[in-house]
Amino acid sequence: MRKLFIERTVYFKSLQTLKFFTAVFIILFILSLTVCNTTNPPDNNTGGINAGVIEQIANSFSARAFIEKEVSKDDIEIILKSGAKAPSARNTQPWHFTVVRNADFAASMVRGASNSCVIIVISGPAAASEGINVDFDTALAAQNMVISAQALGLGCRILTGPVREININKKEYLKIPNGFNAVAILAIGHVENIADAITGASLRKPLGDIVNYVE
Ligand SMILES: Cc1cc2nc3c(=O)[nH]c(=O)nc-3n(C[C@H](O)[C@H](O)[C@H](O)COP(=O)(O)O)c2cc1C
Repeated sequence: MRKLFIERTVYFKSLQTLKFFTAVFIILFILSLTVCNTTNPPDNNTGGINAGVIEQIANSFSARAFIEKEVSKDDIEIILKSGAKAPSARNTQPWHFTVVRNADFAASMVRGASNSCVIIVISGPAAASEGINVDFDTALAAQNMVISAQALGLGCRILTGPVREININKKEYLKIPNGFNAVAILAIGHVENIADAITGASLRKPLGDIVNYVE
């Protein structure tokens, strides 16, 4: 009887010790997660640094020559969502996107287009209300789409040259909403892998020529 009592006491004591150490372990684990979270913010929130995006912008260029390779519907949808995510004055979102998959249209609008190029016509209201700058807002949407297209490994080029022709002769064909005018088009397609910022991009003015600081 006495032996059984001693055995049970030892058993309960070791069980308590096990519970104690498990609790300490769990607390330490939670603490370590909290510390990691505060010292290393995740890359994908606004407080973190996403070096990939900065590098991509540094290496970006306007695609000049496209190759024959289909652009997937999924990619186009991602690009459209990125455009729709752009900020706009008073959040009016004054844009409409027309996706054109037509080789003849692409060739007539863009020098260097391939048959598989997708054209997105960005349009906005012809008469905008006070305080709304359609050109500015649609430009932000356009640049969002360019960045997304490049992140997907595609080439992209903004063009405003064809806008006049579109607004005079192609609005009906493109089913651009009533009261809207084309503002710019995007040519999107695959480009040769050898094309990069060195071979494709134009030089930029040095910051010294375009920036001034006031303290
Ligand atoms: C508002 C805007 C309009 C543009 N219009 C045309 C155009 O009509 N035709 C064209 O070939 N490129 C056009 N571009 C592309 C520019 O020529 C190109 O972005 C610029 O030369 C810099 O080249 P990079 O982006 O390759 O460095 C346009 C770009 C912007 C932002």
